[in-house]
Amino acid sequence: MSILITGGTGFIGVGLAHRLVEKGEDVVLFDIAPNSQRAAGIKGNVKIVPGDLKVWPEVMNVVKDNHVTGIFHLGSMLSLPSEENPWASFQTNVAGTMYVLEAARLFNVKRLVFSSTAATYGLGIGEVVTDETLQRPINMYGAGKLYGELLGRFYHRKFGLDFRALRYLAVMGPGVKTMAITQYNAWMVENAALGKPFECFVTRETAIPVIYIKDAIRAAEMLYDAPLEQVGTMCYNISGVSPAQSAGELEKAVKKFIPDARITYKPDRVAMELMQSLPIKVLDDSRARQEWGWQPLYDSYDKVVKDFIQEVKTRPEFYGLT
Ligand SMILES: NC(=O)c1ccc[n+]([C@@H]2O[C@H](COP(=O)([O-])OP(=O)(O)OC[C@H]3O[C@@H](n4cnc5c(N)ncnc54)[C@H](O)[C@@H]3O)[C@@H](O)[C@H]2O)c1
Repeated sequence: MSILITGGTGFIGVGLAHRLVEKGEDVVLFDIAPNSQRAAGIKGNVKIVPGDLKVWPEVMNVVKDNHVTGIFHLGSMLSLPSEENPWASFQTNVAGTMYVLEAARLFNVKRLVFSSTAATYGLGIGEVVTDETLQRPINMYGAGKLYGELLGRFYHRKFGLDFRALRYLAVMGPGVKTMAITQYNAWMVENAALGKPFECFVTRETAIPVIYIKDAIRAAEMLYDAPLEQVGTMCYNISGVSPAQSAGELEKAVKKFIPDARITYKPDRVAMELMQSLPIKVLDDSRARQEWGWQPLYDSYDKVVKDFIQEVKTRPEFYGLT
């Protein structure tokens, strides 16, 4: 019996894998571009299966061959790559999610947690987004993820699959490699901790709710472990530092710990246009709090930055920063 993580050697996936191994689970990591360095510390306890979500037999095989009882479906093309190549994004995020759900149905997987996104909100939203806000995404990534949420609900209703989903906005932590406009948060802290200068590509006033990687992983674990009767809403917003604070506030938090951090601002026009299309200042996660007791441990920039810097300084190899 094992737990499968698709996108398992990615930023969130590999951190989750470490947590599951600590709990004694057998873990299988399925990834199109496996980064075995990130899984080095748990090598003996995980199986890494290179594979492509776009290739349905590879998805079927990884579930069939490993007696998978639970799945965290995190594998995905993120927002900017999806905008650049919507055709591959469709195959990965839409068809790939269908294949994962089909594999779960055919091989009697008990539970599936899916990572969705606040990009499923779009047209007509204001600064506060709740689980009841109308989901009308404006980009390929958000549209694909919304389809995943709705398909999961269908598999639950039609086939009884225990489907659950989390909507993250900006996950920040050390070692992020995938480009996203919200990554200035992580790279500001990471560069300061490594003694490197950072030129921020958004304005000092730009603000977006974030969640620290350790909280993002904990939320996925908590949702997976929650008793079924507590999972009424099924797809949940998840937040950490919300209401949003500005890049300037983050700089202040960094300088409390690293006073000589070299942070400058050179806003990029495209990045700013994209940020302006994302007006969310509060990602309301009260349903997750009420139903299965979600509570972030890192709910201020000070708490996030303190732990982030310590992680970079004490475990740079773990985050691929050496
Ligand atoms: N990081 C964030 O801020 C954020 C925000 C909202 C939602 N999410 C969601 O969380 C999940 C994990 O994101 P992450 O931050 O770890 O990103 P990531 O890019 O680090 O990880 C995604 C992983 O998926 C793999 N992958 C991509 N295409 C694949 C394919 N065709 N077949 C198999 N594997 C494939 C990649 O190789 C990568 O390892 C994603 O579903 C993402 O949409 C992340």
